[in-house]
Amino acid sequence: MLPPGPKSPIPLQTIEWIVRPTHFLRRAQQRYGEPFTIRTAWSDAPMVLTSDPDEIKRAYAAPPDVLQGGDAADFLEPFVGRNSILVLHGDEHLRQRRLVLPPFHGEALKRWTATIQQLTHEHLDTWPTNKPFKALPKMQELTLEIIQRVIFGSKDPELKAALRSALDLTQSTPNLIAMSLVQRNIGPYGRFLAATKRIDELVYKRIDEPSRGDSILDLLRDSGATREELRDQVVTLLAAGHETTATALAWALERLARHPTDLTADPDPFINEVLRTRPVLSITARKTLQPYPLGQYTLPAGVYVAPCIYLANRRGRPIPWGGGTRRCVGAAFAQLELREVLRAVSSRFTLRPTRAEGERMRRRSITLAPSRGAEIIADPLA
Ligand code: HEM
Repeated sequence: MLPPGPKSPIPLQTIEWIVRPTHFLRRAQQRYGEPFTIRTAWSDAPMVLTSDPDEIKRAYAAPPDVLQGGDAADFLEPFVGRNSILVLHGDEHLRQRRLVLPPFHGEALKRWTATIQQLTHEHLDTWPTNKPFKALPKMQELTLEIIQRVIFGSKDPELKAALRSALDLTQSTPNLIAMSLVQRNIGPYGRFLAATKRIDELVYKRIDEPSRGDSILDLLRDSGATREELRDQVVTLLAAGHETTATALAWALERLARHPTDLTADPDPFINEVLRTRPVLSITARKTLQPYPLGQYTLPAGVYVAPCIYLANRRGRPIPWGGGTRRCVGAAFAQLELREVLRAVSSRFTLRPTRAEGERMRRRSITLAPSRGAEIIADPLA
């Protein structure tokens, strides 16, 4: 038997999940207690959510033949491809993880610091001053430029435009509802698939170019991956590696404008608080491959156990990067980006909000973003 949860039909729960995600989660928790079960068109089976720190620890530590990651990302497959680390399972998933993890960790990270600083300052030169602007699109542009440089070793304005035009289709609420409930090759979803084709052309062009020697693409090439595998890895890293970081940065700027803080020295406490109170992703999910005990229930095989980032963070033991063998591959890299961009902003501007009240958390594609796109005014420091 599954834990209780909202009884409304799947399309209605899907709409709530898209339109009022945080309200939906808080209300279900209040009404049904934990764990509770939700059903949306975003996953092929019911999802059982928990924010209990011990249950979360146990779920992240469960071996992949008990709880399997990847399935909940199936809906991303038309975009990221079937060889993407996001959708693979078992040994194949671990093999891909071992491939992409090293360049985003430890010592290897240091070589990106100067690149991030340089691109950030170039970008800050273009900020409008003393008048309102939306920080979210600006941050999307910057983080996409950074991750492109890291993956390819150079900028690629055409690919940047193609990626943004695909992802922008997933940002409006009506489009998201249409794409979630009618996945035919027409309307916004059809346009999304067409935009993905254009991305493929441009990515394959880069894959077929001779190696430059020091980019992540070169490193992946050396692993003996096929062209299709390379395409899927690159598109996954481009997408997973910029939309999330851009949204976290937009939240950081939205907060910073309302709570001025000097971030030039140690931005980490500020960053951690932003990631805790404004999580970019709301849940992580694993599929049960065998009966799984959760609280007083024994879940059947074939449903999802979902540690809920949004609710867990509110309880005070934050899980911004998920955990276990599916923990965010880019966590250290994203932290480096957040740190360097916020330091640079803080060294050049003071920020003001356009309205006193904070922005609400609104769904944009799979992220929870500031409802007005983080509207701020930047005054240059003398
Ligand atoms: C603030 C920025 C970011 C946040 C909040 C974030 C958060 C997350 C979360 C919660 C997961 C799921 C973990 C789980 O299921 O346990 C994840 C997975 C992942 N993230 Fe991130 N991420 C961020 C930035 C990045 C960056 C910069 C990259 C790449 C350079 C990246 C690449 C990935 C990949 C490839 C996965 C899938 C890992 C797997 O399934 O093995 N992320 N991320």
